[in-house]
Amino acid sequence: MKKINIAIDGFSACGKSTTAKRVATALGYVYIDSGAMYRAVTLYLLDKEVDVLNQKKVVEHLDDIEIDFNLNKNSNVCETYLNGVNVEDKIRTFRVASKVSYVSTFKEVREKLVAWQRQMSLKKGVVMDGRDIGTVVLPHADIKFFMTADIEVRSERRKIELERSGKKLSLEEIKTNLQERDRIDTTRSESPLRKAAEAIEIDTTHLTFDQQVQKVIDLAEGLIHED
Ligand code: CDP
Repeated sequence: MKKINIAIDGFSACGKSTTAKRVATALGYVYIDSGAMYRAVTLYLLDKEVDVLNQKKVVEHLDDIEIDFNLNKNSNVCETYLNGVNVEDKIRTFRVASKVSYVSTFKEVREKLVAWQRQMSLKKGVVMDGRDIGTVVLPHADIKFFMTADIEVRSERRKIELERSGKKLSLEEIKTNLQERDRIDTTRSESPLRKAAEAIEIDTTHLTFDQQVQKVIDLAEGLIHED
């Protein structure tokens, strides 16, 4: 059967990662969380007490950073490793979320991560989510999606997600962070968040999670089974 690459871009907390993960499982594909890579770089810098707004200082550390994804055999979920250490929980904290969009504006950071992301997609059968997947990382992806959702709905969803992993933040704090990241991600000069011309837009505001997943699977399967 033909294997395709699927790109999913969109604003923070639209359900991209959860959708991408489910779609990958349903199709037997590999899920690549590009945001986790930017988060892992940010975690490394924060732990080393590097000023994340200082491009020169950030770039000096890039050669010391290795990121991998390894399957957790108990949960059957791929987890993020930074220099050999599992950082899956640490990269999802507010400490990292509040700084990651500054780090991801830097050209050198993007070049390093984009090269890895392309390398991982060579064999096809990949679902990758992020901000620049359809526009820059995989411009020849077989199918591209662009997810949006109302900011109030996104903030609520992220709050529930954080609470599930024991992190309590106010709705206002979460909303401010999402809006700030959207602003930085769409206005940066290096590969800003944009809808690729041929991307299929999915507004998830009024969709259940199962509906949004099914929509992506149906469209992808249409392509996979096409002659
Ligand atoms: O899950 P959430 O939508 O909150 O964000 P994420 O996908 O984990 O990405 C975290 C941050 O990394 C984004 O706000 C972007 O600043 C950056 N990012 C990026 O610049 N390019 C990507 N391909 C993926 C993430």
